[in-house]
Amino acid sequence: MITEKPGLMEEVRGRFAHVDTCPITGPRIFFENAGGALTLKSVVETSATYAAIPDNQGRDNPASKELMRVIGQAKADMRTFFNVAGGQLFVGESGTEVLFRLIRSAVNAVPEGGKLLGSTLEHPASRSAMGYWAEKTGREHILVAHDDATGTVGVEAYRKALSADLRVATILHTSPVTGMSVDVPAIAKAIREAAPGCLIIVDGIQHASHGHIDIDSYGIDGYAISPYKVFSRHGYGIGWASDRLTALPKEQLRGGPAENWELGTRDTGAYATFSNVVDYFAWLGGHFTGSGDKRARIEAAAKAIHAHEKTLTDAMLYGTGNLKGLSELPGVGIIGGIENPAREGLVSLTVEGKEAADVVAALNDQGIRTHTRKADHYSGNVLDPLGLPSAVRVSLCHYNSLEEVAQFLAAMAEIADAG
Ligand SMILES: Cc1ncc(COP(=O)(O)O)c(C=O)c1O
Repeated sequence: MITEKPGLMEEVRGRFAHVDTCPITGPRIFFENAGGALTLKSVVETSATYAAIPDNQGRDNPASKELMRVIGQAKADMRTFFNVAGGQLFVGESGTEVLFRLIRSAVNAVPEGGKLLGSTLEHPASRSAMGYWAEKTGREHILVAHDDATGTVGVEAYRKALSADLRVATILHTSPVTGMSVDVPAIAKAIREAAPGCLIIVDGIQHASHGHIDIDSYGIDGYAISPYKVFSRHGYGIGWASDRLTALPKEQLRGGPAENWELGTRDTGAYATFSNVVDYFAWLGGHFTGSGDKRARIEAAAKAIHAHEKTLTDAMLYGTGNLKGLSELPGVGIIGGIENPAREGLVSLTVEGKEAADVVAALNDQGIRTHTRKADHYSGNVLDPLGLPSAVRVSLCHYNSLEEVAQFLAAMAEIADAG
């Protein structure tokens, strides 16, 4: 546990910008991490450094060669972070754009006919891309129904929709609305058994900050993340494409390297900031393992992150000190159930008789930042079946503290009491 190592929590918090103060509004507790996590100070510095360098990549001069080296190092770091030996890693415009690109490339390159498969739990990034290309290519887009009670989707639900003619399938790793994770390897394995040629693309955008990504164990063809949701900054997305997906025809410059997924000149600073993220995970993990191996350290960090996040969400749900947990507050409902082993650092809640936006505003007034999820095109897939117009999303990361949770619970007790 992070808090069991003397001084480590302070060191962790010291590595991030704006931990307890918003540059716009002043002191605040940040429980809006699912919308965009805090940024590492090293990322801020790196961004400024590379933004000022005029040289381009691929030139015969030392500055250009240094940029190429930095990109090469970042790709190696990404491989370690994703734990993947093969395939290609690349940077795109955003997580959404990377998902659209992977899905567009897959759907247009697989043999004609067949079906596309996804689930109702998915964020519109993957659902929209699959829906669009299903219509364009005249294929059925099957959406496996997620479970309203648990806020996730299991392999059994997917199993009912499996057939040998599946061409492309999508899996959401963690839901940004319920906060529940999905058993990606089990679902991918079931899909592969039914349709070995089916290309499987995973949206890992909400999962990444929780630390444990292990693509080599998943049996998939594509994975996407948004770096600003995992301690880097806005302005780019990261994609991984398997060798078999990479080998298929895709949009690229004619005459360029066949394996290339990148379109145009890359931002070296974007790549470099992801090395900062991986170095941070390795630094954190170094407090929990004696191993000097970067991957072993990242895995150790993921375990520590998970344990800390579970302590915090348990405190939110069941209370801490003499403060009641959300599960004990009158009229408070928890999406996906109270006890849920799939939870990843996020609690979505409702307060009877109160609009979610009013709860979020009341929390804001007390310096606690959360977010309203409305039953719109982003969250209606989860909220509509529950008959909820909106919900309050409280999302945390490993740098959040028990004291912050306690302040949140004190505020929630007042809000719930105010009936
Ligand atoms: C699971 C998931 N997928 C996709 C997205 C879209 O990410 P971006 O806006 O960074 O492209 C989000 C954003 O919250 C998300 O949580």
